Amino acid sequence: MRRKLVAGNWKMHGSLAENEALLAGVLAGIASAKTDVAVCVPYPFLAQVQAKLSGSPIAWGAQNLSQHGKGAFTGEVSAAMLRDFGCKYVIVGHSERRSLYGETDEIVAAKFEAAQAAGLIPILCVGETLDEREGGVTEKVVARQLDAVIGRSGVGALADAVVAYEPVWAIGTGKTATPQQAQEVHAFIRGKIAALDPAVAQGLIIQYGGSMKANNAAELLAQPDIDGGLIGGASLVADEFLAICRAA
Ligand code: G3P
Repeated sequence: MRRKLVAGNWKMHGSLAENEALLAGVLAGIASAKTDVAVCVPYPFLAQVQAKLSGSPIAWGAQNLSQHGKGAFTGEVSAAMLRDFGCKYVIVGHSERRSLYGETDEIVAAKFEAAQAAGLIPILCVGETLDEREGGVTEKVVARQLDAVIGRSGVGALADAVVAYEPVWAIGTGKTATPQQAQEVHAFIRGKIAALDPAVAQGLIIQYGGSMKANNAAELLAQPDIDGGLIGGASLVADEFLAICRAA
């Protein structure tokens, strides 16, 4: 039975005071969840989150990292630094990093490799824009994004990673993919990996991300190839995030 993972991506939200309240709310209700749970937070909050969540069922991580190990890279944060703060996960290749900060497939693949080299579990984001979906090239885009990582790290590396399918047109829009739309792409991802390594494909956690909310999570999570969620806006509200965790 494949495990499920529900991870919150706080993006650039929160404050020390807001985080205290949010984390207290999630911690109060997490015992009833059967899924693995994590929160991926802005770098400045890692010490607070580590102190608050250590010893709890909730893991934590970051939303990005440098592909470099150390050196003159002003403003960057390395995988080793994330490990120093107890991070288990790190999101790589989020569509906002790809579109707003010019992260190419090659840069994402290098970040994926750097994360694993430091013992972090990368959450590799893939997904198409609305134009790409309407142009019928969704699978071609997702395959290209996966191939960049497989080409650099090998398909076996996915045994220690998570993939998050995030249709760009569903992120932050309230326009969620239908369960059928999401399942189609998840099945494509799993099938593509299975053609290279059936065991890795079988164990691979493939999350859905893109306006997953308490009121649509159960139907999405009931799909055979959806193994959890990568949650943006709804992860900032304890009751909403807990409801998604309980639906997994
Ligand atoms: O990484 C998860 C995020 O992109 C989804 O955001 O607000 O649509 O749940 P949201």
